[in-house]
Amino acid sequence: MSQPVTFAICGCGARGLEAYAPYQLTHPEEMKVVAGADVRPQRLELLQARFGVPRSMCFSSDEELLAQPRLADVMIVSTQDRQHVSAALKALDKGYHILLEKPISPDLDQCRALQDKARRTGRLVVVCHVLRYTRFYAALEDLLRRGAVGKIETIDAMEHVAYWHQAHSFVRGNWRSSQETSPMILQKSCHDMDILRWLAGTRCLKVQSFGSLDYFTAENAPEGAALRCLDGCACKDACPYDAEKIYVTDPRTGVRGRGRGWPCAVLASDPDEEKIYAALRTGPYGRCVFHCDNNVVDHQTVNLEFEHNIHATFTMTAFTQDCHRTIKITGTMGEIEGDMEKNLLHLRPFGKPEQTIDLSEAGGQFSGHGGGDFGLMSSFCKLAASGGTGALTGVDASVESHVMALAAEASRLDGGRTITLAQF
Ligand SMILES: NC(=O)c1ccc[n+]([C@@H]2O[C@H](COP(=O)([O-])OP(=O)(O)OC[C@H]3O[C@@H](n4cnc5c(N)ncnc54)[C@H](O)[C@@H]3O)[C@@H](O)[C@H]2O)c1
Repeated sequence: MSQPVTFAICGCGARGLEAYAPYQLTHPEEMKVVAGADVRPQRLELLQARFGVPRSMCFSSDEELLAQPRLADVMIVSTQDRQHVSAALKALDKGYHILLEKPISPDLDQCRALQDKARRTGRLVVVCHVLRYTRFYAALEDLLRRGAVGKIETIDAMEHVAYWHQAHSFVRGNWRSSQETSPMILQKSCHDMDILRWLAGTRCLKVQSFGSLDYFTAENAPEGAALRCLDGCACKDACPYDAEKIYVTDPRTGVRGRGRGWPCAVLASDPDEEKIYAALRTGPYGRCVFHCDNNVVDHQTVNLEFEHNIHATFTMTAFTQDCHRTIKITGTMGEIEGDMEKNLLHLRPFGKPEQTIDLSEAGGQFSGHGGGDFGLMSSFCKLAASGGTGALTGVDASVESHVMALAAEASRLDGGRTITLAQF
């Protein structure tokens, strides 16, 4: 690559600045961030300090950035769910290629409008379905396409959200309300719908779904629960969702363990114990999980029928210890079981010895969605630099998974009615 691809970042939050922009630090020959916009001035200060973007190229909103002439080859759209499409449409008109955070939009008409504009402008529109770029799912897809289990018959996938991640993002945090952002099956699990579609290798025909917000409601508050965890809550010791455990003392998630990383970095920039306690005393992340303004489900199941009689089940649940995904695929000639966290695939061809494929032995980096964040950046930079087409997660493929997710949500809200996607 002769010149790095230049990027403007619209929405310099956790994804924009912590998942994608850092690719520049390890691959300066491929990526250069030259401009950005955010409504929070401290995020623009970070953009300048960490990535060397001049102050004159930092803008205080997506609108201000988009009022400028085109400033870069690519615009990363990493604002919140309902802000994506309007910015992306304007950016396409200005001639930017787009790297778009998922979900495209919770409104299917907006998804289609973006798809149409992408076709008409001929620019790259790649959606950040980062799981396809992980070694784990790439190896699994490759095995299936090479016929390792014969014809696929069933896929059984599970998203283990983890009790603390649910509390952080979907009870106290940014994605707690489907009206403000998106329903859980689209927000969190459009990745899983996308992966199921990709692995099945055929179109999804029908879906049916059940699920509810069962636990994180006021009726389930134990006696003596305070409105905020630090306000003398009588249930604190026994409560795994206690904010002080999650953000301070738990070695996996708290500031004493993970230090400056996610999830603590969502509460304060460069978090330390003092900043975290201040955020817990007054901010949304210090609230009791039974006394929040949340409405997204804490568990949901989906049944899916694909072409060629392939059937799949999907479960997302908050109530798991760890945050990861597992999958089992059966076919006419064998079965495969996989655990993304362990980076292990177990292939059992019928009548032959089991093969264990340990993807962590192949080296490489596994942080950031199992290596998917940087995998996506690497693939995207190559495409943008070469003017290539055929992105792995282009907008057309992504819209299919959005239709699956939105139909699943419509089914759930309608008592589990079977929905035929062609009529949705
Ligand atoms: N691909 C993935 O796996 C993945 C993972 C997590 C989140 N996401 C998605 O990424 C998006 C961003 O999530 P996040 O965790 O970075 O959230 P975030 O809140 O940390 O970042 C959003 C940023 O947009 C800024 N913003 C708000 N209004 C703006 C405006 N008008 N102009 C410019 N900036 C504005 C906010 O100040 C914030 O800094 C969401 O849509 C989310 O669903 C994707």
